[in-house]
Amino acid sequence: MKLILSSLATVSLVMTLLVNAAMAIDPAAVATETLTNTVCPVTGTVVDPAITTEYEGRKWAFAKEECKTKWLKAREDSLYQKLGGKGAMEAAIDAFYVKVLADDRVKHFFDDVSMDKQRRKQKEFLSAAFGGPLPWTGKDMRKAHEGMGITEEQFNAIAENLVNTLKDLKIRQELIDQVVAIALTTKDDVLERPKKS
Ligand code: HEM
Repeated sequence: MKLILSSLATVSLVMTLLVNAAMAIDPAAVATETLTNTVCPVTGTVVDPAITTEYEGRKWAFAKEECKTKWLKAREDSLYQKLGGKGAMEAAIDAFYVKVLADDRVKHFFDDVSMDKQRRKQKEFLSAAFGGPLPWTGKDMRKAHEGMGITEEQFNAIAENLVNTLKDLKIRQELIDQVVAIALTTKDDVLERPKKS
């Protein structure tokens, strides 16, 4: 009996250590729906819990007042916010994948892909690329498209669907041009071309 209890205690201790280790890996560098970040997104140092702001329903904390000012200015200047922020990004990516899945040039790539997951990841990736508040934590674009054998024509078809989506949503041409410029920065990786040194 004693042996069983001591084994259980060991298992429980190991479990606690594992949970703590898992939590230690994520220093809550970014805010989540329920949690304010503990690491300043500007300096990377510990936040002052008295210096906070709300952005898209989340509470963000900063190390210093200047950090908050700088961060808010970066949000204001971002392509992400100019496009309309979280809601607009979500609507755009949903509409984009309706077009992609109706496009015979590229739809077969997504035959075995969970589209809920794909939409979510694309929202996260493009939001980060356009200067949204949350960093991209998924795969890099070369790894994500490894072995797919995507051609330049297929890449251009995807880009065309993105542009047409934004046109449908009456986004200004100047902003569409900025979106295209950012999308093009992924081209070598998506097509698995040699990295330019
Ligand atoms: C503007 C260029 C592109 C961007 C920004 C982009 C972005 C992404 C992202 C963020 C993911 C998810 C990565 C992850 O799992 O962490 C992904 C996956 C994928 N992409 Fe792209 N992509 C681009 C071009 C293309 C093109 C041209 C095609 C095909 C014609 C394509 C097909 C796919 C497929 C099939 C997946 C799903 C892989 C899987 O879950 O098995 N992508 N892409």
